[in-house]
Amino acid sequence: MTVPAPNPVLILFAHPDPATSRINRAMVAAVRGLDAVTVRDLYAVYPDFHIDVRHEQELCNTHQVLVFQHPFHWYSCPALLKLWIDEVLTYGWAYGAQAEGLRSKRLLSAISTGGSAQAYTPEGYHGRSLDALLAPFDQAARLCGMSYLPPFAFHAARRASDEAITRHAEAYRRHVIALRDGVE
Ligand SMILES: Cc1cc2nc3c(=O)[nH]c(=O)nc-3n(C[C@H](O)[C@H](O)[C@H](O)COP(=O)(O)O)c2cc1C
Repeated sequence: MTVPAPNPVLILFAHPDPATSRINRAMVAAVRGLDAVTVRDLYAVYPDFHIDVRHEQELCNTHQVLVFQHPFHWYSCPALLKLWIDEVLTYGWAYGAQAEGLRSKRLLSAISTGGSAQAYTPEGYHGRSLDALLAPFDQAARLCGMSYLPPFAFHAARRASDEAITRHAEAYRRHVIALRDGVE
């Protein structure tokens, strides 16, 4: 008899041009097919940007950990994931006094950046830390009663070696499994 995973994971993957992707494609391949891990390629599911809000909320109901996986675009997420947030996280379901939709769940940002880790420091090219730039996601999670996990980031993605990509994708798989199994 198989024991159900304590924390099913829903990965909301958003990449507008996956054919050109190196790191996100490798990460998706590393987690696809894992037990109790649902990988949802938002740009493939909603090429017309018409999000089925009810269905997305039902998916959230059956998962305990949400992952926003995406390349960093203009210090934020690609447009379709922003639309998903705008439309799916409704008042009364996601937030508000009676809202229970996401309460006590966990949110992870799994992102890749073109900039190096050093660039995301006060002295660096971008002048702010990744944590500071991800504040809107952290705050949205708080508003919904979720806990926001430390981001799982891969920097300087376009310049990375094939070996570094493979290592990060494997680390992502281990991280997702640990979240699913409640050991992290
Ligand atoms: C429209 C656009 C905006 C971007 N904005 C940023 C940014 O704000 N910060 C950054 O570090 N990289 C930025 N990048 C670079 C991407 O984050 C980088 O190419 C991506 O993480 C690589 O992942 P992939 O191999 O899966 O495509 C941007 C790229 C595009 C196309």
